[in-house]
Amino acid sequence: MPTLLDLRGRTVLVTGANAGIGYWCVEELAARGARVLLGCRSAERAASAVASVRTQVPDADLAVAPLDLGSLQSIADAASALDERIDVVICNAGVKAATRSARTLDGLDLMMGTNFLGHFALLAQLDQVLAAEARVVSVGSLAHRFGAVDAERLSAPWRGSSLRQYARSKAALMAFAFELDRRWSESGRSSVCAHPGYAVDPLTPPRSGQVRVAPGIRRMASITRAWVQGKDDGAFPIVHAATAADVVSGDYWGPDGWLEFQGRPTRVTTTDAVRSPLLGGALWAAAEEITGVRFAT
Ligand SMILES: NC(=O)c1ccc[n+]([C@@H]2O[C@H](COP(=O)([O-])OP(=O)(O)OC[C@H]3O[C@@H](n4cnc5c(N)ncnc54)[C@H](OP(=O)(O)O)[C@@H]3O)[C@@H](O)[C@H]2O)c1
Repeated sequence: MPTLLDLRGRTVLVTGANAGIGYWCVEELAARGARVLLGCRSAERAASAVASVRTQVPDADLAVAPLDLGSLQSIADAASALDERIDVVICNAGVKAATRSARTLDGLDLMMGTNFLGHFALLAQLDQVLAAEARVVSVGSLAHRFGAVDAERLSAPWRGSSLRQYARSKAALMAFAFELDRRWSESGRSSVCAHPGYAVDPLTPPRSGQVRVAPGIRRMASITRAWVQGKDDGAFPIVHAATAADVVSGDYWGPDGWLEFQGRPTRVTTTDAVRSPLLGGALWAAAEEITGVRFAT
């Protein structure tokens, strides 16, 4: 892990904090002294993650924020319950595969609804508690490169594979993040993206309550370490984007290794599409229409 700032006095909300990369973000942020709010939909899985972090960081300052990004009501409830200043939001929660018929509680496409629209609605409603110099990190993906988003079909039945729709949802989240950067340009706030590379459970150190991997699978997986990485390492670019002093609004961070699958945090490039103000503006308007939630910005 690269050397990062002391984070005492700073509060970070991490969505999808109970598992995978989100969990590792919490562990690292807590170890640096941040107060971390775990945005999770399952109280049981959240409690398990808190207990696990405390085995590594006994004095971790943690609190659970009940949050289901697949429910606009839950998002509104979470936002109104959060009444402390938040310095950083990490939009990490994500559904990586689903069937065409899978829906959020509001009937939206599950991946688009959770990965993009849920985070849109959450951030819009956090405006009052975001610090004057707040930073938002949206967790993108290499997959955004093959996800062409149509703002008019955000929750329409999709064509192609589940992976293609996942890619669209990540491209939509990233295009929104860069639009937020443009809209916040006169404010002290910043909006950046980061991706974890290719981060897999068999290369991730074991933790209580996290995915269990048989020792034999771990041994076999270790030969892939030159190309891919564990979720602990996948959290590095995200934590870097969330906290490091060399990050500026509009940045995109990812691993510096082969194909950006693994490695140390560095600035990486996006497609032109996700940086298009035309797409960003259209997605913003569509998201407001679909969620019924508006930004004060
Ligand atoms: N792993 C990779 O190689 C990779 C590559 C590129 C991008 N990413 C992105 O990185 C992020 C984390 O990936 P991961 O591999 O760590 O995934 P993961 O292990 O499957 O964890 C996903 C997290 O998101 C949460 N989540 C899902 N739906 C939610 C909802 N409706 N409300 C609240 N939380 C919800 C899950 O909570 P539950 O436990 O309640 O389901 C879990 O905590 C995702 O955004 C993913 O797209 C991952």
